[in-house]
Amino acid sequence: MASTPRTSPEVGGMGHSVKRKEDPRFLRGKGNYVDDIQLPGMLHMDIVRSPYAHARIVKIDPSHALKIPGVLAVITGETLAQYKLHWMPTLMSDTQMVLPTEKVMYQAQEVAAVIATDRYAAADGVEAVEVEYDPLPVVVDPFKALEPGAPVLRTDKPNKKDNRIFHWEVGDRKGTESALAGSDVVVEQKIYLPRIHVASIETCGIVADFDRIRGKLTVYMTTQAPHAIRTVIALVAGHVGLSEEKIRVISPDIGGGFGGKVPVYPGYVIAVAASVVIGKPVKWVEDRMENLQADSFARDYHITARMGAKKDGTMTGLEIKTIADHGYADAAANPSKFPAGLFSICTGSYKMPKAFAEVDGVYTNKPPGGIAYRCSFRVTEAVHAIERMTDVLAQELKMDPADLRLKNFIPADEFPYKSALGWEYDSGNYAGALKKAMDLIGYAALRKEQAEKRKKGELMGIGISSFTEIVGAGPSKHFDILGIKMFDSCELRVHPTGKATARFGTKSQGQGHETTYAQIIAEELGIPAAHVEVEEGDTDTAPYGLGTYASRSTPTAGAAGAIAARKVRDKAKKIAAYLLEVAEDDLVWEPGKFSVKGAPQKSKTIQDIAFAAYTNHPQGMEAGLEAVDYYDPPNLTFPFGSYICVVDIDRGTGEVKIRRFVAVDDCGNIINPMIVDGQIHGGLTMGMAPALLEEISYDENGNVQGGSFMDYLLPTAMETPRWETDKTVTPSPHHPFGAKGVGESATVGAPPAIANAVVDALSHLGVKHIDIPITPEKVWKILKEKGVAE
Ligand code: CDP
Repeated sequence: MASTPRTSPEVGGMGHSVKRKEDPRFLRGKGNYVDDIQLPGMLHMDIVRSPYAHARIVKIDPSHALKIPGVLAVITGETLAQYKLHWMPTLMSDTQMVLPTEKVMYQAQEVAAVIATDRYAAADGVEAVEVEYDPLPVVVDPFKALEPGAPVLRTDKPNKKDNRIFHWEVGDRKGTESALAGSDVVVEQKIYLPRIHVASIETCGIVADFDRIRGKLTVYMTTQAPHAIRTVIALVAGHVGLSEEKIRVISPDIGGGFGGKVPVYPGYVIAVAASVVIGKPVKWVEDRMENLQADSFARDYHITARMGAKKDGTMTGLEIKTIADHGYADAAANPSKFPAGLFSICTGSYKMPKAFAEVDGVYTNKPPGGIAYRCSFRVTEAVHAIERMTDVLAQELKMDPADLRLKNFIPADEFPYKSALGWEYDSGNYAGALKKAMDLIGYAALRKEQAEKRKKGELMGIGISSFTEIVGAGPSKHFDILGIKMFDSCELRVHPTGKATARFGTKSQGQGHETTYAQIIAEELGIPAAHVEVEEGDTDTAPYGLGTYASRSTPTAGAAGAIAARKVRDKAKKIAAYLLEVAEDDLVWEPGKFSVKGAPQKSKTIQDIAFAAYTNHPQGMEAGLEAVDYYDPPNLTFPFGSYICVVDIDRGTGEVKIRRFVAVDDCGNIINPMIVDGQIHGGLTMGMAPALLEEISYDENGNVQGGSFMDYLLPTAMETPRWETDKTVTPSPHHPFGAKGVGESATVGAPPAIANAVVDALSHLGVKHIDIPITPEKVWKILKEKGVAE
C-alpha cells in the first residue's frame, strides 16, 4: 500500500509524501504558542525555587517583594492550603506538592509564586522573596535510599517507613532461574541509563483565564493530553467550584513535547489558582533552566541483567532486575497498571523461552521522574538492556552479533507471537529488516575492514540494534490513566460542498497530524487531503481522547479516523443507491465515488453525495454526513527495525565519530513517507544524544549538574551524522489500515546501536560494556587504561 498509493496525488491519500499543511505557518513565524497568547489585563507569574535538595522551610517573608512596583501577590503553600490545593495527585496516583508548607524535596522545587503586572516585575519579586531554610540530610543515590536507616523522605505519608515506592515483577522467576542454571553460558551485566531531559524547544507554560461572571476557566497550556488535563483539573479543584463543563483546555501549537508535556506541573496549578482567586488571566512560562532543573525527567534506570544461552548461541533465558530512581514523587506518565511502563518488552525481538523482570521504584531528593521521553513507557530502557545483552553474549560466545541475532529472531511465520512476558506481538519480519540493513551498509566488507584496521591499531566498531517497539496504548482492558481508558477518537463532518472537518482527541507537537490525519480521510473517502481540515487540542470542540505520546496517535486516533470515515462511507452508500436508483449491493466503491456494477458511467462522487446529504437525501434518513468513532484497539502494534552504526574512535581524544548509520524501519503501512522519514531522522538524532552527550546528574548534596545548556549537551548539526534510512513494510493485522506507530522507534533503537558500535571497537581490548553517555572522557580513560591512548 505504501509503495503504490491507491489515490491520485491530487487526492493525496496514504503513501503520498504530501507536504506538511502546518509548515507554512511555522516557517513564516505564524505559529500560535502559549507564549503568543495575550489577553486584556493579563498578569504574569514567576516562581521562587529552592536552592536546597532537602530542607525544612522555616519562614517565607514576602514583604520586600510586595513593595516592588507591579508585584500584586505572593502565593505560598499556606495560601493554597486554605483551598486544599497545596498537594495534587500524580498520574501514578502518588502525591506531589504544588507548593510546600513544610519542606522542599529537591533543588529547584517551587517554593512560592509571585504575581505581577509584567514578567520583569514578577522576576524582581522572586529575587526579593526571603526564604529561611533548615537543611535536612539529602539522599541522591537510590541504592543508599533503600538501605536500612536511610532517612525516610516522604514524611508526609504517616505509614511510610522506607523509600521504596513499588516492587513490580513479571514472568517466571523460578523457571528463568533454572533455565539460566541449565545454560551453557550465562552473561551478566550492569547497565545504567542516566537521567535525561526532553529539552523541547518550547518550555512549558500556561495562560489561565477565569471568567468570574460566567464561572468559566479557559486555560491555554502546553499539554500533550488536553482532555485528561481537563478531567484532572476538575477532580483536583472541583471542591473550589471548577466543574468539568466549565473548564476549557486549549493546547495551541506546541514546540515539542516528547512526553515532557504529559504531566501536570505545579506551575500550571498555581497559575489556575491565581486566576481563580484574582479573577484575571495569569500567564506562566518557565525559562530554560527551570525546564531542565524542575520538570519531569526520563530514564534513571539501574539495570542488572543476566542472559543464558546454549553453546551454539540459542538464547535460553533472561532475568532483569532494576532499581528505578523516581525522584521524590512517582510522577511517571504511565498507564496505571504498569508501574514500570512497558518495560516487559525487554525480551525484544528474540525467541526467549523463559524470562523474568522485576523493578523497584525508589524515592530520592530529585525532581519527580519517570516520563516516557519519546518512548512508549520504558521501552527505551528495555531495548537498551536486551540489545546490549545480546552483544555481551555474542562477545562471550565469540559469535558475530548479526549471526547471533539471526539465530534467535522470532521467525516471520510465528506471528502473532506470545512473548515469555505476556505480550502478543502482532507481526514482524526481523530477519528481513536486519538483512536489508546489512546489505545497505555492506556488513561483510566492514567486518573485513575492521580486521585490517585492528592490525594497524586503528579503532573501528560496528554496532547493531534490532529493536522491537510496543506502541498504541492501548487496549482499554489493560490500559488506563487515572482510571480513564486509553481509547482515542475522531469526529468527522463532511460539509455540503464535499469538504470535511475532522477533530481528534490527540494533539500534535510537531508530528504533522494536520497532514497525515487528512490523508487518512482522503484515503477512505477520496476527499482531497487539502480539503480536510484537522483540528485537535480544544476540549470544547474535539471529542474526548487521551492525547499524543508513546507513538499512540496513528494506532489509536488514526484508526478512529479511518473507522469514522468508513461510517460516513456507509451512509454515503445509502445516499448513492438512492440517487442512482439501485440497491446498495449493486454499488462498487473506489476512492472518491460509488458506481453501478457493470455500468461504471453511472456514478456519484463523494462530493455529489455530500451535497445530497443536505439537499436531497432519502425520506426518513437523517440529514447530514458525519460520524464519530471512539477506537479501542484490540492490541498494541509492534513496530521494529534494524539499525547498524559504524564508528571510528580517535585514540588521541577518545572522541567517537559516527561514520555511517543505516536505519531500516518497519511501521507497517505508511501514511506519509516523507513525514515518517522526518520522524526517523529527528528520532535518530534524539537517540544519538543520550548515547554520546546527554546526562543530568547530582552531587552528594543534591545539586543538579547539567541544569543549563552549558552542561547539558544537546546535539547540533555539527555532531549529527548523515542518517541513511530505508524501510520494510509488515502491516499490522489488527489495525484498520495496517499501520503501526513510528514516532519513537528511532529514539528507542539508536542508543544501543551506537553503544554496541563503541564497545565493538574496543572489544578486542577486553571491553564488555560502557554506560551511556559515551563521552570522549570515558573513552579516553578506557584507552589510557588499556594502554592504547595516543
Ligand atoms: O503519537 P505520535 O503522533 O507521536 O506518533 P505516530 O502515531 O507514530 O505518528 C507520528 C507521525 O508519523 C504522524 O504524523 C503519523 O501520522 C505519521 N505516521 C505515518 O505516516 N505512517 C505510519 N505508519 C505511522 C505514523
